[in-house]
Amino acid sequence: MDDIDFDRYDRIRPIRWTGEALELLDQRRLPFEVDYVRCLTSSEVAAAIHALTVRGAPAIGIAAAWGVVLASRAVEALDGGEAAVKLQPAIEELNAARPTAVNLGWALARMRAALLTAGQDWRAALEAQAHAIAADDLAANRRMGALGAALIEPGSNVLTHCNTGSLATAGFGTALGVIRAGVAQGRIGQVYAGETRPWLQGARLTAWELQQDGIAPTLVADAAAAHLMRTGRVQWVVVGADRICANGDTANKIGTYQLAISARHHGVRFMVAAPSSTVDMATPSGDAIDIEERDPGELFGLGGVRTAAADIRAWNPVFDVTPHGLIDAIVTERGVIERPDEEAMRVAFG
Ligand code: MRU
Repeated sequence: MDDIDFDRYDRIRPIRWTGEALELLDQRRLPFEVDYVRCLTSSEVAAAIHALTVRGAPAIGIAAAWGVVLASRAVEALDGGEAAVKLQPAIEELNAARPTAVNLGWALARMRAALLTAGQDWRAALEAQAHAIAADDLAANRRMGALGAALIEPGSNVLTHCNTGSLATAGFGTALGVIRAGVAQGRIGQVYAGETRPWLQGARLTAWELQQDGIAPTLVADAAAAHLMRTGRVQWVVVGADRICANGDTANKIGTYQLAISARHHGVRFMVAAPSSTVDMATPSGDAIDIEERDPGELFGLGGVRTAAADIRAWNPVFDVTPHGLIDAIVTERGVIERPDEEAMRVAFG
């Protein structure tokens, strides 16, 4: 890890705790406006998570943790146990903001556990836990960046999907952390970023984020991926995850599954990079994952301009499941799992 200048490659912070308020970099307005939304209540945080003001699996967990701290302002309790009971409605509201990323429930469970072991000092314990969740995420990303980059042979080009960078985490990123580390070590030449329709996390966020680092990505339409692979332009697909199941099946942004199918067909390797907080050993396989479906209106136009024919129906699932058999490596801060399956996951996380 010593050969990676993390600060050089990690300049954006989507979540700021001021001591009074939670400030969220408004990802709906990037890359045209860099503006922070101020949240003073847990309901405002839940609404911001639902609206994608803050997004990306680890980032929504961190934001929700600070949401619990904000909710605690309205609670009087003698100890952590009493506070946990009184904060339960706020925790449930935060947990319901989005269904697919396990990091949300994971972070809230960590906050609740901190309360249950705290005494009179439960307010300080809550705040310390929120800071720790963010600090652990940043450390995990740096570690997995180094581990993932080591798998990539010098001279490789990579394709990524959605946004998995500093904007989606406490910093550095998951898949984008691997890519940053690979670029820093001179292993990666060209970084291709898929647009990621309909919300355009790739075109709006990943492209902008890499530009801040001085890395010039090449944007491709999502539909160009198979051609990119067939013409030998990429050697690895590197993506993040919203939930990794007990058998290695992985939920990630819609379109990931077709990248994995295409990668296998063309002999391109496929890596999932995610912190261990994204691993959900209680969900046996991808069939059991609740896949979020968002407003079909997201498919009808761009930037407020309608592009679809009038009076049509649309279906807008925003995640899909990549079966473990299509994944060459899952990289977490705990290590690399090659060809993941139920047995390999049990050994690593059981
Ligand atoms: O709907 P989003 O933008 O929250 O979806 C984000 C993704 O699918 C990311 O790939 C995933 O959360 C990993 S982010 C480190």
